[in-house]
Amino acid sequence: MEPISFAGQVVVVTGAGGGLGRAYAMEIARRGGQVVVNDLGGSVAGEGGSKGYADAVVAEIHNEGGQAIANYDSVATAAGGRRIIEAALDTWGRIDAVINNAGNMRFGPFEDLTADDLASLIAVHAAGTWNVTHAAWPHMKRQGYGRVVFTTSSAGMLGSAMLSAYGAAKGAVMGLMHGLAEEGAPHGILCNAVMPNAASRMTAEVGEGTLGENPWAVNFFQTFNPTFTAGLTAFLASKACTTHHGTYSSLGGRIARVFVAVTGGLRGDSAVPLTVEEIAGKWDLIRDDSRGYAIPAHVADEFRIVAETG
Ligand code: NAI
Repeated sequence: MEPISFAGQVVVVTGAGGGLGRAYAMEIARRGGQVVVNDLGGSVAGEGGSKGYADAVVAEIHNEGGQAIANYDSVATAAGGRRIIEAALDTWGRIDAVINNAGNMRFGPFEDLTADDLASLIAVHAAGTWNVTHAAWPHMKRQGYGRVVFTTSSAGMLGSAMLSAYGAAKGAVMGLMHGLAEEGAPHGILCNAVMPNAASRMTAEVGEGTLGENPWAVNFFQTFNPTFTAGLTAFLASKACTTHHGTYSSLGGRIARVFVAVTGGLRGDSAVPLTVEEIAGKWDLIRDDSRGYAIPAHVADEFRIVAETG
């Protein structure tokens, strides 16, 4: 296969001052891309800010002969989102891909988490993804080309104790991806999501509370280097990716598609609703995935599936 190049392409990577974002920025810069390394440089909780994180990654890219600029704006405000995209446009005159990676973390038992914790997570993960993508969207639409990578998490897709607020924010990111994937594709803007697993500043802080209780995690430490996810994310941000509306897990050196599926279920009479007792009596059938399942591509597709399966 031809090498996948980012030559002539401008890519914004948010939260690229460390962890996964740094690995993405470096992978893309090594492939000739011009990269905006955005990072607020605050604490894992999302407080404070500093220039050191973004500057260090830009220096690393420059040392390797790559092209990058730093940006220190927070993704959490609409003005910040606009300034991040303006940094790309002011420097290189275009924007080809946005990797929405910036994230903060608050964790603990549900009763200890506060509405402020939830608001902070929603502001960075969900509104942050909205803000940066919203600023890039008209430019991508005008040029008929764009790639947008969303970052979800197994906490948002599969669920984990102690991560209810974080999972809610990552679930919100998925709702945004589902909508924009459908809206963007006719304009050449392809949206996809990554569900990474990597060692980082964030996971070091969460540590014992979540991963520490996962007996399988020990098998995967070597593959928790963020470089094990960089290939997937770089591919989704590249011209070589021609599919949209997918979610992809990176875990233990394995890359795989994650999807939402519906079982064949229990079909009632279209004139009379199923009763509570009928549902209870057939609960195992409703849940049963051994008879196969369908994967709706979007809202209307579930209507098609039910219509066609009678
Ligand atoms: P990290 O803490 O090393 O990276 C996140 C970066 O985002 C930090 O450098 C931080 O300064 C920056 N950031 C935080 N708030 C910001 C804001 N308002 N504006 C701009 N930058 C901001 O953690 P990691 O693990 O590399 O996380 C990257 C993304 O991957 C996050 O969205 C995280 O939720 C997600 N993720 C990570 C997983 C993992 O196993 N490491 C698992 C699932 C999802």
